[in-house]
Amino acid sequence: MEQYPNVQIMNHPLISHKISMLRKCETGHKEFRELVGEIAMFMLYEATRDLATKKVQIETPICEAQVDMVAEERFVIVPILRAGLGMVDGLVAMLPTARIGHIGMYRDHETHEPITYYCKMPEDVAESEVIVCDPMLATGGSAIASLDVLKRKGVKNLRFMCIVAAPEGVKALAEAHPDVKVYAGVLDDCLNENKYIVPGLGDAGDRIFGTK
Ligand code: PRP
Ligand code: URA
Repeated sequence: MEQYPNVQIMNHPLISHKISMLRKCETGHKEFRELVGEIAMFMLYEATRDLATKKVQIETPICEAQVDMVAEERFVIVPILRAGLGMVDGLVAMLPTARIGHIGMYRDHETHEPITYYCKMPEDVAESEVIVCDPMLATGGSAIASLDVLKRKGVKNLRFMCIVAAPEGVKALAEAHPDVKVYAGVLDDCLNENKYIVPGLGDAGDRIFGTK
């Protein structure tokens, strides 16, 4: 993935371990949900590493000091429904003042094309630092369409976080939105004939919500 400078694969032992637990058939929805939240939280450390800071004058118990604080105060987390919702609690644990926008999107079972069915954003989303999340980046269609929606609303500072990515999705996303920083927990092998990620973890939405 060296050809895509805006794409970062975590390759972190603790994240890889938790993703491996997600993959197992015997991991039930309670544990699956907990793991997705934890992975999202770990990943946010890396995904916010380059945030701008500003100098602020404070007083410690010892002396006056100029210290670093995060410059941007307006963060918006945008889960792609449904499965992205599973990442929200972990992200909010790290960014407690973030607002939440929602994009409803599902893949048509025949065409695998994304269909948008819902969109509700905070009023100041265009001026905010926006983090879009979805555990799965397969063909990339859902991520690309979601970022298109946000750019049409004037959003400029965009990051996309996923837990499992397929090379096909990374390529499509990086080429469609080269200005968006992409963070993936792990890079898998390929897509199968049904456009599921291999080895992957199955249907993330169904596994988070226990619907199958
Ligand atoms: C899954 C997943 C992504 C999308 C990824 O959602 O959560 O949104 O597929 O595939 P893509 O990269 O090929 O677009 P799904 O359509 O299964 O909807 P759900 O979250 O409601 O289950
Ligand atoms: N959506 C999922 O939930 N899993 C995949 O493997 C691909 C798309």
